[in-house]
Amino acid sequence: MTTASAPGKVILLGEHAVVYGQPALAIPVLQVEAVATITPRGQAGSSGLRIIAPATDLDSRLDQLDANHPLALAVRLTLDACGELQPPTLQLRVDSDIPLGAGLGSGAAVSVAVIRALSEHLGCPLDLDQQSSIAFEVEKLHHGTPSGIDNTVVTYGQPVYFIKGNDPMPFEIGCPFDMVVADSGHPASTAEAVSRVRSAFEAEPERVGGIFEAIGRLVTDGRDAIAAGDIARLGRLMNNNQTHLAELGVSTPELNRLAGAARRAGALGAKLSGGGLGGNIIALLSGQHDESVVDALRSSGASRLITTRVEAR
Ligand code: PMV
Repeated sequence: MTTASAPGKVILLGEHAVVYGQPALAIPVLQVEAVATITPRGQAGSSGLRIIAPATDLDSRLDQLDANHPLALAVRLTLDACGELQPPTLQLRVDSDIPLGAGLGSGAAVSVAVIRALSEHLGCPLDLDQQSSIAFEVEKLHHGTPSGIDNTVVTYGQPVYFIKGNDPMPFEIGCPFDMVVADSGHPASTAEAVSRVRSAFEAEPERVGGIFEAIGRLVTDGRDAIAAGDIARLGRLMNNNQTHLAELGVSTPELNRLAGAARRAGALGAKLSGGGLGGNIIALLSGQHDESVVDALRSSGASRLITTRVEAR
């Protein structure tokens, strides 16, 4: 039996603009993960690769799945990378406690866990770059033009300063800080959010392009603030980023409400994280009113709360 996992992630600053070449900062969320388990298929007469994913009610042989199914693509690209011409007779089971459609990188984490478990089981462990680039191909199924940030942070499992098409860079963390990730309870489609932003950009390239640039500047400022341990500044930048995300049309009254409740209760900053239109917000904790922030988010309807520490790894 071979088991492998990959964590969730949140974007601290820079989502959407990152699709258009601006930088973004993302961190892994180690409290949630996708796990892939490979076992041999012992029963007489069973052949081929069987894929089981209870969360999506999937139980199918690889050759019966649509070629565009994300799990089928992750498996096939891994078999190709390992030089396996025929699918081996194995069972692959996928479990994940990363909520779907919540901006926590569930799709990328599932892909990376599968790529890791399968390649290790076949005796051909792939390096991190190979894992990330296979997961990137799968991400294209979710929304045609991914920046690559999800597969990168989930594969490397450490905070990254990311620019599309460039090698990911770790960023310096002057002092550790805590965030709370609060789920609005409303799943949303990243593909739809990305396509809305694209339509807005096509309709008003100057205005929307200006928003992307403003987001890019605050990401660079945010990286400097984190390196200097200036968490109050990071909080202000998160609030500014949220304003720009609302201008891009990807926030919702619900996400605004959660972010507002967190700030009023003492969070240093709060914003949606990921595609938006639903999913999660993140709130930056100061160390002084943390319980009040968590209580305020819970009483404002957050369906799940995860507190996570951002520190050098
Ligand atoms: O997968 P999500 O919902 O966390 O969104 C990823 C971030 C986007 O910038 C919206 C898309 C991308 O590919 O970078």
